[in-house]
Amino acid sequence: MTHAAARALLSDPLTNKGTAFTPDERDALGLHGLLPPHVGTLESQIARRLVALRGQPDAFHRYAFLRELQDANEVLFHALVARNLEELLPLVYTPTVGEGCERFSEIWRRPRGLFLSYPNRHRIADILADPAYDRVKVIVVSDGERILGLGDQGAGGMGIPIGKLALYTACAGIHPSEVLPILLDVGTDNATRRDDPLYVGWQHARVRGEEYDGFVEDFVAAVADRWPGVLLQWEDFAGANAHRLLARYRDRLLTFNDDIQGTAAVAVGTVLAAVARTGQPLIEQRIVLFGAGAAGSGIAALLIAAMMADGLDASAARARVWAVDREGLLIEGQNALSDQQRALCRTPHEVAGWSRTDGGGIGLFDTVANVRPTVLIGASAQPGAFSEKIVREMAAHVDRPVIFPLSNPSSRAEAHPADLVAWTEARAIVGTGSPFAPVIGATPAVTQVNNVYVFPGVGLGALVAGATRISDGMFMAAARALAAVAGTAHAGLLPPITDLRAVAGRIAVAVAEQAQAEGLAAAVPAGGWSAAVDAAMWHPVYTPAI
Ligand code: NAI
Repeated sequence: MTHAAARALLSDPLTNKGTAFTPDERDALGLHGLLPPHVGTLESQIARRLVALRGQPDAFHRYAFLRELQDANEVLFHALVARNLEELLPLVYTPTVGEGCERFSEIWRRPRGLFLSYPNRHRIADILADPAYDRVKVIVVSDGERILGLGDQGAGGMGIPIGKLALYTACAGIHPSEVLPILLDVGTDNATRRDDPLYVGWQHARVRGEEYDGFVEDFVAAVADRWPGVLLQWEDFAGANAHRLLARYRDRLLTFNDDIQGTAAVAVGTVLAAVARTGQPLIEQRIVLFGAGAAGSGIAALLIAAMMADGLDASAARARVWAVDREGLLIEGQNALSDQQRALCRTPHEVAGWSRTDGGGIGLFDTVANVRPTVLIGASAQPGAFSEKIVREMAAHVDRPVIFPLSNPSSRAEAHPADLVAWTEARAIVGTGSPFAPVIGATPAVTQVNNVYVFPGVGLGALVAGATRISDGMFMAAARALAAVAGTAHAGLLPPITDLRAVAGRIAVAVAEQAQAEGLAAAVPAGGWSAAVDAAMWHPVYTPAI
């Protein structure tokens, strides 16, 4: 091997093993001198990296450290994450990934994934043609416009596809060479980013309208051409684009929007787990959703579908869900409603006799006071929106109020879980989008209700099944599978984070079965779906280099 080839081996994160190259490998591959003499193992490397990681001054620096490790040695990065999922998930993913996106330009080091910028729109096919991407099976794409609850981060939004795909590997065992993060850089309307001379993205106002749609169309067409059968997951697009693009592409390729559909499945699965504890079935709940954007309206739609599957007709199911957005309770006749919001509107007649405390729209307090909800879900990115007054009002009428402030990162949560527990004398059953420190006295323990419980299993199941499309039925199957593994044996509503691989496996089987039942998948493999799902999962261990 030439010196250049030896260096290339060490600088490719998919082949580099660092000090774990064996003496025989060092002889055969010409690695002597390029590595320190110590011959380590994956275990000793994990131990060393963990010490270095914990020595970093704060979560953001730990995030940056992990990103560098991922770019240096993928097996080591994924083994470290897998062995320490509970500690590392909040770094690789929400909440810290939020700061990672905001400060993306600051920590930009080495290329990972693809930046497809609008000025390069005529080059998309050429860029995708690189043989390095021949094995790609899963793409996560964002345009950076609605990063968590932090708004437009432009090119910095790349942190989300990178983080989500790290979780595909950690939780669903998709090999790192089979995943591809993509950022569609169509500019940014975040002036702080755009005017920053150190910003690494395209310093231009967001391209919108027909130009935007044409660019996305070129991108999707090039993806479908390059990788027939690839799974394309949309992340953190702004509400209107999220729904529009999903509607446009869901019948053309294997694709889903995680904010709409993945969030819906985790929320419904966890609501089912919560009501299993209260003993009152889903079809008897009164559910208020605060924030009816991509996530909120997706949750509402799947909740209604679940209630219909449990026996309610469409109007009875709809009548159990109230959605509140910027203008207050969604009511027919309001301006600028999306199709999804219109489907959730109440009639003016229904609310005519409601008690009101203020003169404008019907706000969250008035909605809670009149509806007396049993379940309150937040997807608004409005911190503090679940105020003490509102929560006490809800808890005055319900024995075990189910309250899920789902907005991310932690700084955008509608309430702090410790407050929810305190204001309800520990009667609330609480779930949050991002992880929080345990709250003493919370029973069940405060649960992280995040789509990480769902999307890896959905993607894995769809791929193993050779599915051609991802249907709403597959997300319903995912929600029910999540509720089934939730059981009542865990401290929280859902299994612990350390069980995410097992959860993904169970969801993958349910999704594959559903795909097959809907005629969207290949025949059941000889050994059954469960064995096929297990066999498809990669585990981060070194393989011999010679
Ligand atoms: P979005 O921008 O589509 O929706 C936000 C909605 O909140 C909009 O309809 C907006 O009008 C509404 N809103 C804003 N201010 C409001 C106010 N003062 N009162 C009432 N409504 C208000 O964003 P998306 O994708 O729905 O995400 C919302 C939040 O949910 C984000 O913080 C996101 O991180 C979080 N989320 C959490 C997930 C989880 O797994 N836990 C998954 C997806 C999203």
